Amino acid sequence: MFLLIFIVALLIAYFITHRIFVHRRTFNGTAKLYGKTVIVTGGNVGIGKATAAGIAMRGARVILACRSKQRGEEAVRDLIQETGNDGIIFMQLDLASLKSVRAFAENFLKSESRLDLLINNAGLASPGRTEDGLGMILGVNHIGPFLLTNLLLDRLKECAPSRVVNVSSYGHDVGTIDFDCITTHRRLALGSSDADLFKAYTHSKLCNVLFTHELAKRLEGTNVTSYSLHPGSVRSELGRDINEWFTRIIKAFVSKLWATDTVSGAQTTLYCALQEDIEHLSGRYFSDSQLVQVKPEARDDGISKKLWEISEKLSGMA
Ligand SMILES: NC(=O)c1ccc[n+]([C@@H]2O[C@H](COP(=O)([O-])OP(=O)(O)OC[C@H]3O[C@@H](n4cnc5c(N)ncnc54)[C@H](OP(=O)(O)O)[C@@H]3O)[C@@H](O)[C@H]2O)c1
Ligand SMILES: *[C@@H]1O[C@H](CO)[C@@H](O)[C@H](O)[C@H]1NC(C)=O
Ligand SMILES: *[C@@H]1O[C@H](CO)[C@@H](O)[C@H](O)[C@H]1NC(C)=O
Repeated sequence: MFLLIFIVALLIAYFITHRIFVHRRTFNGTAKLYGKTVIVTGGNVGIGKATAAGIAMRGARVILACRSKQRGEEAVRDLIQETGNDGIIFMQLDLASLKSVRAFAENFLKSESRLDLLINNAGLASPGRTEDGLGMILGVNHIGPFLLTNLLLDRLKECAPSRVVNVSSYGHDVGTIDFDCITTHRRLALGSSDADLFKAYTHSKLCNVLFTHELAKRLEGTNVTSYSLHPGSVRSELGRDINEWFTRIIKAFVSKLWATDTVSGAQTTLYCALQEDIEHLSGRYFSDSQLVQVKPEARDDGISKKLWEISEKLSGMA
């Protein structure tokens, strides 16, 4: 009898947590995107690829901005076949190199005439340093997209109404910003154990939320709006460098029971990119296609401004 109650309780707990963490509303917006141009960073795999498919299906020209030419071009072939849209192209972008970010922006601005949507999707939780000596997670998840967004801002303004969408994570909620660590070590957190990587990852995702907040303020009156979001817990390659035996077991377990596929994982990104009449929510954060209020630290004007200024320095803009 006791066992039965226990099992039933376990099942109920599973369904409730599954509903909260996994369930994703499908985005059914009928927006047509003919004549529009969209950049998806990290569009060759995972959530980014599913997002690119959702955008291409609606007729837009899609630029897959990826670091690997081979993986990027392979994904372009898949996506053209899947969506029947042949306006999908690869352009090389390595967010772990400020030089590459600048080259991408230059190349893009020269060869393309519009930019209607920038989707900062690429992200990782890997150790090491970028070409510029920044912590890998700080560089790829935050400073690279920071520079990229800024270099493309004028084009976005010219094409307004336009949007910038930042794929953040629910993990931002346990993140903090340690300004001393950033200025002294040019990293978000020290150490390279799985726990340290996870910490730096959550900090970087808090940076995304803060940036969306600051950017929205700076863009007031331009008709360029910005959103950040949590895609859900999605089976992808994201945890590829999180591999100590203990975390490997948790990862396998969680991903079996509580993670969803990448198509579901793309729905909130598509919502933020395409849903009509959310412009007044610029700067805000979404999860499961719904507005969510973030913690005070993630919408603090002082912190977001300070982070912006440090980022200008680290990205060589200031
Ligand atoms: N999966 C989840 O449960 C989850 C939860 C919350 C948030 N997110 C966020 O969702 C976004 C997409 O993640 P995902 O789960 O789809 O992961 P993924 O399958 O690992 O895809 C990540 C993408 O980012 C690209 N990337 C990595 N480093 C790069 C660099 N230096 N320059 C350019 N591109 C780079 C990868 O390119 P390569 O193929 O060349 O490595 C890949 O295309 C990330 O921002 C992540 O933080 C995911
Ligand atoms: C997205 O995040 C990056 C890095 O945190 C930031 O530079 C950029 O301004 C953000 N854009 C939006 C719309 O939030
Ligand atoms: C923004 O959009 C509104 C409504 O379409 C328009 O009236 C206004 O002129 C636009 N502002 C800018 C700066 O483009």
